[in-house]
Amino acid sequence: MSALSLVGVKHAYFGQTVLDDVSLSIEAGECVALVGPSGAGKSTLLHIAAGLVTPSEGRVERAYGRHAVVFQDPRLLDWKTAAENIAYVLRHRDLNRSGRVERIAEVASLVDLSVEDLTKFPVELSGGMRQRVAIARALAVKPDFVFFDEPFSALDVGLRLRMQDLAVGALLERGAGMMFVTHDLMEAARLAHRLVVLDADGRGLAGERRLEGEPLQRDIALCFARVQDWLVNDPLFAGLNDSHGRRAQ
Ligand SMILES: Nc1ncnc2c1ncn2[C@@H]1O[C@H](COP(=O)(O)OP(=O)(O)OP(=O)(O)O)[C@@H](O)[C@H]1O
Ligand SMILES: [Mg+2]
Repeated sequence: MSALSLVGVKHAYFGQTVLDDVSLSIEAGECVALVGPSGAGKSTLLHIAAGLVTPSEGRVERAYGRHAVVFQDPRLLDWKTAAENIAYVLRHRDLNRSGRVERIAEVASLVDLSVEDLTKFPVELSGGMRQRVAIARALAVKPDFVFFDEPFSALDVGLRLRMQDLAVGALLERGAGMMFVTHDLMEAARLAHRLVVLDADGRGLAGERRLEGEPLQRDIALCFARVQDWLVNDPLFAGLNDSHGRRAQ
């Protein structure tokens, strides 16, 4: 059985269909990147997959222990420091104080947050730092599956690569599954086993491409060439830079 299976998922907001007949399975230890034009329904699909939104039709089956969600906006508690935001998700875990402090330090280092950063309130942090606190909070529960919604969009290229290596690398090493929404094809080409494209017109999945080699081990120049090839030659990607979307042939 797959770690996650969506079967015939359909969703409409106020009578407006956003997703129609979406079926997708993700295996344990597999990282699937989800791309598609803005408004195609990527976040909606991720929320349905994570059980936060009930689809109008279809079903979701999950066969993993624990999951975490990194939302498109950081969703931190403004009245708690970065460390307290991370500690909050550990409150029901069987951890004593020193275990909790150790876990927070461990995940903070995975997202490059300093001890000083951890004492700050969200309002005192940059957008990229807030995003990294949200990622640390997700990693803190040692999830078997993570739903990422454009987690690195506020980070510069260097930090983005570093986060891929540290945060996603740590999850891959532990055999966690991932659904990873991104608008950055380079990021998808670097860290995913498989890339799935959402179709804006058809409101379903336009298709998918399997990536050879292992995530994060691929040569950057080869990833770049692969993305160029998709954009120039592959009809599946034709609608990606077109806000109206175009159905792939
Ligand atoms: N809670 C909601 N109520 C009503 N309509 C919604 C709601 N959430 C999303 N939508 C609509 O559903 C469609 C898909 O939205 P969604 O956020 O899933 O897109 P997305 O692919 O994640 O876009 P982006 O790349 O901009 O994040 C959009 O037309 C949006 O306006
Ligand atoms: Mg979105």
